[in-house]
This record gives sequence, C-alpha cells and structure tokens, in this order.
Amino acid sequence: MIRASLVFGACGVLLASCGGGTLAAPGPSTAAAPARRDNPFAGARFHVSPEFSAEVEATAARAPSDAARLRKVEGLATAVWLDSIEKARVAGRVLDEARAEQARSGQPVATVFVLYDLPGRDCAAVASSGELALGPGEARYRTEFIDPLAAAFRAHEGQRIVAIVEPDSLANVATNLAVPRCAASEQAYRHAIAYAVKALALPHVSLYLDAAHAGWLGWDANRAKIARLFREVLDEAGGPDAIRGFATNVSNFNTLGDGDGKRLEPSNPCPDELTYVAKLSASLAEAGIGGKGFIIDTSRNGRGGIRAKWGDWCNVKGAGLGERPRASPAPGVDAYFWVKPPGESDGASEPSRPGYDAACATDASLPGAPHAGQWFSAYFLQLVANANPPL
Ligand code: BGC
Repeated sequence: MIRASLVFGACGVLLASCGGGTLAAPGPSTAAAPARRDNPFAGARFHVSPEFSAEVEATAARAPSDAARLRKVEGLATAVWLDSIEKARVAGRVLDEARAEQARSGQPVATVFVLYDLPGRDCAAVASSGELALGPGEARYRTEFIDPLAAAFRAHEGQRIVAIVEPDSLANVATNLAVPRCAASEQAYRHAIAYAVKALALPHVSLYLDAAHAGWLGWDANRAKIARLFREVLDEAGGPDAIRGFATNVSNFNTLGDGDGKRLEPSNPCPDELTYVAKLSASLAEAGIGGKGFIIDTSRNGRGGIRAKWGDWCNVKGAGLGERPRASPAPGVDAYFWVKPPGESDGASEPSRPGYDAACATDASLPGAPHAGQWFSAYFLQLVANANPPL
C-alpha cells in the first residue's frame, strides 16, 4: 500500500483529472438495498480475530519480560483483511464465530472486514501488489471475490457486518493518475468498487469506502476531487444510501487531534485526522453525500512527531498503538478501530525478500520487515512500548 501521495501532487501540481466512468460493469444479480442507517458499532461487542490473538501470544511467549503488557492487546478487536480470493473464503467461518459469540453473550457482535483485492491493486506502490491483473482479473473480482462474499454475508443476517472497501484505490484515482499503473487502473477500480457496493449493500451490512487520510487528501482541491469521485462511483452503485460512511487513516499514522501535520505540511488545512474527517464531511455534503459516519484507524497513531516526511508510510519507526477500538468516540465518528492489525508489516525492507518496496527501506522504516501483511514481531514490540494511551 502507498499511504500518502505527496510525491504525486497532493497540492494539485501533477494531478490529472478524474475521468468519468462510462462503461458500466455488469450489475450484480440483485438491486442495491439501503444500508443500515445507524452506527453498527454502537452497543456492540467487536469480534476478536483468533489469528491476531495467536500472533500476539506467540510474541509474548518469546518475550517473557514484556509478556504481561503484550497480553493486554490479545483480546482487542482488529479487522479481518480479505486480501485474496482464497482469504475471502474465511468470511463465513469468521461470521460463524461472531454468531456464536452473539448467542453466548446476548449482545450484538460487530465484525469488521477489509476488502482488498482489486485488479491492479496498489497502483502507486509495490509492497501490496495483488493477485488480480487488469483485464482478466476484473471478471474474477466480481465472480470469485465479491459474489461469494455477498453469499457469505447473506447467510449471516441478524449480525452486524462492517466492510471497509478497498483502501487507497479511489484516492489513487483522485491524485495519482500521473502514475501510469494508476491511469491504467482507473476504470477497473471505479467499476469494481461500484459492483462491490451494489452487491454488498444489505440491510445488515455497513459499508465504508476508504477515504485515505489527512496527509493525502486533506487539501481543499483533493477533498473536492475525492468527494466528486465518490459521488460518481456511488451513483453507479445505486446512490449514496448504499453506504454507511467512510474509513480514514487505514494503515497510516496520523494523530487524531494534536495538529501534528502542521509541522509536516503547513499548506494542508487538515493537520490531523479529526480535522480531516470534519472537513471531508463538508466536502462530501457539497457533492450530495450527507450524514455519513466515519471509522478512523487508530491502531498505530498513538504518537505524533515520528515522521520527517508525511509521505513515509511503511513500518514507520517510533509509532505506538493508538486509541483502543470503541464506538462513537467523537461527533460524526462511528468508531475508532484497529483496521490495520498492529504488528502486521506494511512491506518488505530487504531487496532479497518478496514484496520488497524501496519505501520500506529508508531511514524512516524499521528494518528487517517481512512481506506486507506478515507478522513483524520487532515492530509489534515497538508499537506496544510506545502505546498512547499506555496499556
Ligand atoms: C497487505 C495485506 C494485509 C494488510 C493488513 C496490507 O498492506 O497488503 O496483505 O492483509 O496490509 O496487514
């Protein structure tokens, strides 16, 4: 994943225009239904991934002196990333677990997924290139990734399902069309996302489109651009009512409210994530998308002042765990949530490793990092040591 686009013109210098989508992809078999209108996190327990807990436990077992502190994280909720066709098959099993927990506790359980398998994925970086190619991958995305997921979601009515749709993708369309792979991906991204929203907009499913973060889309021109783009994609998907809202800061490190970004990019009117959410809300309203809720990823944003460049996005040194997942923490915010499972790598730092990305090998990034998505114990230990609020 690329986590900021300053290089590619966050202030409008190299921005190519967002072309309009004309060719509609074949629609899913059912018409879009309105999404839940209320906050799916409110009054709910959050599903805890046993895989995440097991990684934390394994790290604790190898680090006895830190074990007690590490184990405080073991029972916290993280999102389940569906980053391949194969991985998407776990959705049914995860939702079965949540259903059992719901029955045991007598409380609704919210389960959070991230959909992350677009054709031509991660067009402006290397670390998270995906399995699906542009062209042949476009039909596979619909029939092998989204359709089975829609079936798994339908089989779990009566549960609260949250799906965050395709981090970075529309932000790359908004600001990175000067990158040839992004220009080539634009139509596939637009139509695949519209298809996903239409297929998954069920009454018990709350969809959130990824809206990047303050350091990428905070500038007035970029917010206006992404808002128009969301409107176009949502119109193709049946209208803005199909989604509950937007997710920001996914896998990034922006602090919530201390204005840390002022130091990094004085021209950006959004120096932190809460300011971004407020200003993005206004930009969205201007594009006719009103009343939406936001999820802010707080898994690794506990500490500001850790970056010299806002564009640093890979396993950033000095980061700490941020606010614990919770519902309705601030006006307009549905939840702070750990969308990026803390401890999973952003990309490989050594040229000899698969998924190597030069952005993960600078002084800003912790060395020794494995492929994106794989467990990186040393990084997890750092996040825990720097947790703010402390554990
Ligand atoms: C990776 C995914 C992974 C996700 C969460 C992304 O950067 O590409 O494979 O599931 O991070 O760790």
